[in-house]
Amino acid sequence: MSELHVYDHPLIQHKLSILRDKNTSVKEFRELVGEIAMLMCYEATRDLPLEEVEVETPVDKAIAKRIAGKKLAVVPILRAGLGMVDGMVALMPSCKVGHIGLYRDPETLQPVEYYCKLPPDITERDVIVVDPMFATGGSASAACTFLKEHGCRHIKLMCIIGAPPAWEKMQQDHPDVDVYVAAMDPKLNDHGYIVPGLGDAGDRIFGTK
Ligand code: PRP
Ligand code: URA
Repeated sequence: MSELHVYDHPLIQHKLSILRDKNTSVKEFRELVGEIAMLMCYEATRDLPLEEVEVETPVDKAIAKRIAGKKLAVVPILRAGLGMVDGMVALMPSCKVGHIGLYRDPETLQPVEYYCKLPPDITERDVIVVDPMFATGGSASAACTFLKEHGCRHIKLMCIIGAPPAWEKMQQDHPDVDVYVAAMDPKLNDHGYIVPGLGDAGDRIFGTK
């Protein structure tokens, strides 16, 4: 069964409070999304396997630990997921980045796919799907289904704010996918927006409203 991890680290919570504020500028919003993604990435990669290596320090030989060649890919759901990529890549410089373009139909709230470009060796990689918002869960679930159709087996989902309907949907559709969020808000409004949430993440990252 999948697990839901809510990151209540004070730095993440502090940054999230500024992110939620409707008076936060596009520039600051964009920077904060990247910083929160970086902090969450640090936590979500805690289970990466390590191997011992011998290195020579200026003083003596040391047995140290390095990540055991685990191949990773970050897959943002366009558009808003793009805002999280730089923060992830800063911590994992050799990861590859795939893109899945989905938008929510405003009437049906169903995800509509419009773009996909994945690294050719995606099936050999552990994948972290990133998207700031996890509302009905339709977009995240569709992205995971899509990745599995392409042969991906080890998928994590990292979002900034989630809501209960999304978590219920993911447990039903993808019980093998662990979910990482900075907050779980109580509900959605009639337009499928998270309440209190932070509004439209894509519009706030790209300044399109
Ligand atoms: C937002 C958000 C998620 C989706 C979440 O994208 O970035 O992808 O909605 O909602 P869900 O859990 O109900 O699927 P949107 O469709 O607004 O597209 P955008 O990123 O291009 O703005
Ligand atoms: N997409 C957003 O950008 N915000 C929400 O609250 C829900 C979906």
